[in-house]
Amino acid sequence: MAPQPHSGRRRSRWSCWAVRGLAIVLMSLTGGDALSLDHYRQSCPKAEAAVTAAVKQAIAKDRTVPAGLLRLHFHDCFVRGCDGSVLLDSTSNNTAEKDGPPNASLHAFFVVDNAKAAVEALCPGVVSCADILALAARDAVALSGGPSWAVPLGRGDGRVSLVSDTTSLLPGPGATFDQLKQAFHAVGLSAKDLVVLSGGHTLGFAHCSSFETRIRGFPGGSGGAGVADPALRPSFAAALRRACPANNTAKGAGAWMDPTSAAFDNAYFKMLQTGRGLLASDEALLTHPKTRRMVALYAASQGKFFQAFVSSMLRMSAQNQPGEIRANCRRHN
Ligand code: HEM
Repeated sequence: MAPQPHSGRRRSRWSCWAVRGLAIVLMSLTGGDALSLDHYRQSCPKAEAAVTAAVKQAIAKDRTVPAGLLRLHFHDCFVRGCDGSVLLDSTSNNTAEKDGPPNASLHAFFVVDNAKAAVEALCPGVVSCADILALAARDAVALSGGPSWAVPLGRGDGRVSLVSDTTSLLPGPGATFDQLKQAFHAVGLSAKDLVVLSGGHTLGFAHCSSFETRIRGFPGGSGGAGVADPALRPSFAAALRRACPANNTAKGAGAWMDPTSAAFDNAYFKMLQTGRGLLASDEALLTHPKTRRMVALYAASQGKFFQAFVSSMLRMSAQNQPGEIRANCRRHN
């Protein structure tokens, strides 16, 4: 019987398989140092619990934190591996990743800072910021009702964070299927990982600029005015246009990624199938018959989505690099 990520004993058995099999195989593919579930067992046994406590505390005050943490981890891993490079602040000599256009709306950095402070109080200089972010992303998913999994640990913190990497390595919201596939392939991830991890868009929010072209950027309106992407359900496009009036300057305007945006579930795939995918990059998953079938599979089965999500997250977050243990996640040592 297929393992059920939400059902206690079966879930942990499945997580074990996923961790031992996938993580080990993938480490050899990415060429990084081997990650291990035991990495801090001697040196900082309470690290993981301290991270979870910091994430819980932040969510209790701010429901947008899980989406912020999950996206932070994705943006970290796609640029120089999961090395905490996205956490570094710009300096007088260097504009860092976090100040690049694709990262303008990243948030929840404070949660990593709080977790790091808690962990440093327990065992100074031992736990990397990259590991803290990987754990926090897992907790963000699990605490939003999604699956949980054991996170292999031992990532190093990088010393390099370049703004120029962000536009070249992070796919944009208007990316085509081929561009998305290429961006994922560049970090050792498949078209299946692309579909599954795009399911992370079950959480959170997008600003109008991220889907402006979809709601009024297509040719065909009277007097040269743009119309909505014909792939969008007309009532959904109309609701998005109301949320994002033309020439609007409201900074916080936008739309939730799916109607249950605080819950980690498979609603994203159901929306996609019914003309209510928000970003062009979401819609792009329907352009290829193979990935369209995957969308249908995950729309029909939340269990299968959860199972696949754990595998793909393990693959994405296994791209580590040797590095230091930063004392402060915002600055290299
Ligand atoms: C496939 C390529 C992807 C593209 C082009 C993409 C693009 C975007 C864009 C444009 C936004 C909205 C940003 C804004 O307007 O503020 C967003 C939000 C988000 N993305 Fe992605 N994304 C992709 C994949 C992923 C993956 C793999 C994950 C995680 C596994 C992820 C997690 C999220 C989350 C959680 C949000 C909501 C953030 C929040 O509310 O703070 N995305 N993404």
